[in-house]
Amino acid sequence: MEFIDPQKIFGLGTGSTVNFLIRKIHESYILKGQPLNAVSTSRETTSLATSLGINIVDLDQVDELDVVIDGADEVDPQNNLIKGGGGALLMEKIVASCSKQFIIIVDSSKIVSSLGKFPLPVEVVQFGSERIKASIERFLISLGYQMPKVTFRKAASYKYITDQHNYILDLHLNEILDPKTLSVGLLQIVGVVEVGLFIDMASKIIIGSDDGSCKVI
Ligand code: A5P
Repeated sequence: MEFIDPQKIFGLGTGSTVNFLIRKIHESYILKGQPLNAVSTSRETTSLATSLGINIVDLDQVDELDVVIDGADEVDPQNNLIKGGGGALLMEKIVASCSKQFIIIVDSSKIVSSLGKFPLPVEVVQFGSERIKASIERFLISLGYQMPKVTFRKAASYKYITDQHNYILDLHLNEILDPKTLSVGLLQIVGVVEVGLFIDMASKIIIGSDDGSCKVI
């Protein structure tokens, strides 16, 4: 909450952690009569925020974002992240890249010594997605990953479709030794739209504990 200036437009990420933040913002500002404008990173966030009186502004109508606050699936010692567990990685990365500060809220279970236990989400276009999956598998093998498992994200028995109408492939790698090389290489594969590795993007990580305290790194 301390990082939000109610006079400025801020960015809201997506996920269960951000949903707590949205409810807190509602209590602290909206219920006290302070109007707020925010950019959203998903339909889910837009729906909760608007239902609680936060005005959602189109990113293209905003000159500059001061701060975006989001969750993450994993955070490594360099503050690199895996995101996209909720399927919103593309919009999250676009909004984060437009902001001066990108602040991440996690609990200590998300802090890892190296990324990759959490399957890495990769957003791909629907057209030719089996071929794109095969290209990703070949690329992973070329990097030395043994028998990499790549699966389509499912929603019920169907392939999950993102807010931007793409599919998500989850890369089960167990450990990512060189996140940058992996990210750069995946983004060169035709049909890959975005990768859930957020490298050198986070300005601050807020780590919450069960006792209500938090550490900012
Ligand atoms: C959404 O696609 C994700 O990037 C989320 O930010 C991330 O999965 C964290 O979500 P939770 O706050 O629900 O753990």
